[in-house]
Amino acid sequence: MLQFLLNDDEIRLTECGASDTLLDFLRIGRRLTGTKEGCAEGDCGACTVMLGRLHDGRLVYEPVNACIRFLASCHGCHVVTVEHLRDPDGGLHAVQRAMVDHHASQCGFCTPGFVMALYGLWMTNPDADMTAIETALQGNLCRCTGYAPIVRAAQAVLAAGGQAGDRIARERDEVTARLAAMQGGRVEVARGDDRAILPADVDDLAAVLVEHPDATIVAGATDVGLWVTKFLRPISPAVFIGHLDGLKRIDVGDDIRIGAGVTYTEAVPLIESEFPEVSDYWHRIGGWQVRNMGTIGGNIANGSPIGESPPLMIALGARLVLRHGDTRREIALEDFFIAYGQQDRRPGEFVETVILPRRGNALVAAYKISKRQSADISAVAAGFRIEVAGGVITSARVAFGGMAGTPKRAAAAEAALTGAPFSAETFAAAGEAVQDDFQPLGDWRASADYRRAIARNFFRRFWLEQAGGDQPVRLARVAGD
Ligand SMILES: Cc1cc2nc3c(=O)[nH]c(=O)nc-3n(C[C@H](O)[C@H](O)[C@H](O)COP(=O)(O)OP(=O)(O)OC[C@H]3O[C@@H](n4cnc5c(N)ncnc54)[C@H](O)[C@@H]3O)c2cc1C
Ligand code: FES
Ligand code: FES
Repeated sequence: MLQFLLNDDEIRLTECGASDTLLDFLRIGRRLTGTKEGCAEGDCGACTVMLGRLHDGRLVYEPVNACIRFLASCHGCHVVTVEHLRDPDGGLHAVQRAMVDHHASQCGFCTPGFVMALYGLWMTNPDADMTAIETALQGNLCRCTGYAPIVRAAQAVLAAGGQAGDRIARERDEVTARLAAMQGGRVEVARGDDRAILPADVDDLAAVLVEHPDATIVAGATDVGLWVTKFLRPISPAVFIGHLDGLKRIDVGDDIRIGAGVTYTEAVPLIESEFPEVSDYWHRIGGWQVRNMGTIGGNIANGSPIGESPPLMIALGARLVLRHGDTRREIALEDFFIAYGQQDRRPGEFVETVILPRRGNALVAAYKISKRQSADISAVAAGFRIEVAGGVITSARVAFGGMAGTPKRAAAAEAALTGAPFSAETFAAAGEAVQDDFQPLGDWRASADYRRAIARNFFRRFWLEQAGGDQPVRLARVAGD
């Protein structure tokens, strides 16, 4: 049986399909129509709700997109919709009041989603500065009001404070206890043939996948959700793994071990402490809601040529641990990607851990060019890891996404860098050499020539940033330098 809290109510469902979405359940099943449907693909934020879940026994609330969140994945969670913000006397919540006072709504369709994203920010980051406000709003689109009044509303409500008196803060202990009582054991639910399995732990996941080797693994559902909402693809039987704490560990020792179920948001402290140079890159993956759901394992396992963690991870020298039953094997991440749409993952196997070497003294960078600054996947992305000793490049790993059918290292460019002086000329030569590494395709994101120009310019940008000069980083024209 599926059990979770919806606002004040405890929900128990014996019937639930793997492909049932949280949004449909809220709007159609419960008539909680404050949560809107805009795009149904995680892009607009109109469907934003807060999801409270226990992580190592601690209650964590995060805004997520209800449109691509599967209902089954809400087992043991607290779903908070905009209706829950209402004061007991029916008045507006402080976040809603700030939106009204600052004229931050016109047609109002996007407004509940903005309210929930701001509520999430206000609750979790009371000291949020302008950058944090902008980051929190990346996943919400407004077509009529314009963002300035919304940002002013955010600043006003943050300045007013008062989070301790908020309902979900006051009821924290009680909700934690209620959710704790729902944890433990394997859960299986279905609607007809549409079956969902939530394993009890990682060992149970391994056993379930041996039993159902062709099941769809669902982690954050930021890819799989769209298979259902956009392509109406069946996913049954689906094995949900987003709740498994055993896949959410990050261990930093001689190397760095990241569980496949770690979300982008959960990886932020690691990124900021170990690889602060790529923090901006990391915060440009999806929007806040997507980063709260999407996992590193899912970004690798989906095999997309434009997934943005693989180029960075390959450059950093990542290895993957793949598990089948009780058997594990370890491979270099770059070897996982065999060809477009083909990965080295056998039936019943799952990605368990990503292992990164410590950075040592290496120079690290990651870049992305997309049509929009936020909430847009890249045309081209790249990761760099360069070691320099005595003015000479002793090791170079550079990997690209968007330049081939898989994320791939740039062998010719790496050869041009390795053993060469750490100089502008060397990086210019690498920018030329990378032209031999790839024959990119043109598509609606970027033409082949533009992709080549981006690849060249990334080397130039890396040099300019590392050289620490005061020149602005200018891009070359598509026709070349
Ligand atoms: C609005 C929006 C914006 C996005 N922006 C970006 C972006 O800027 N950059 C980017 O790179 N991506 C982006 N994405 C894509 C997506 O967020 C990422 O690919 C994400 O990391 C996928 O992780 P997930 O946990 O949601 O995977 P899921 O959707 O749950 O699964 C994806 C695939 O991986 C498989 N899988 C998941 N976990 C495992 C595992 N442990 N072992 C084996 N197989 C597994 C699933 O079966 C499925 O095939 C965006 C998506 C949306 C909806
Ligand atoms: S409806 Fe657009 S993000 Fe969910
Ligand atoms: S107020 Fe109309 S879309 Fe935002």
